[in-house]
Amino acid sequence: MKVAVIHGPNLRLLGKREPEVYGTDTLDDVNAKLHALAGELGVELEAYQSNHEGEILDFIAEKAPTVDGFLINPGAFTHTSIALLDAFLGVQRPFVEVHLSNTARREEFRRHSYLSGAAAGVVYGFGVHSYLLGLRGLAARLGADGA
Ligand code: DQA
Repeated sequence: MKVAVIHGPNLRLLGKREPEVYGTDTLDDVNAKLHALAGELGVELEAYQSNHEGEILDFIAEKAPTVDGFLINPGAFTHTSIALLDAFLGVQRPFVEVHLSNTARREEFRRHSYLSGAAAGVVYGFGVHSYLLGLRGLAARLGADGA
């Protein structure tokens, strides 16, 4: 089972970026924890980060034929990008949306996600554990699907 992890804009700044909101784990820390869990779950993982919407769309289209699903923290594109939603609808691969922070209790503009309605599941508010719970959920979903 193969999963691609996508970290959206500004997530390469993790550890330094608003640590009171996003925690002190760096992106490398998050990826290391994901890889450790993936090993336990028997999932092959590839992690990718981009600040550029079009590059993320290209990554989704190019990777979809070779992966079973996606785990994505879309960052601010969550709240702005119909193109990202269309990319996932177009490739027909399950994806799980995760957020480090509890977006429901932050600014009003963070409460809407263009992606959640199409996601296999959404996890937010648990810091790095959002990613780990999201990966567990996606792996279970893929296993249940027989993928
Ligand atoms: C985020 C929440 C978004 O609103 C924000 O733009 C981010 C990070 C999170 O992980 O909590 O960049 O996706």
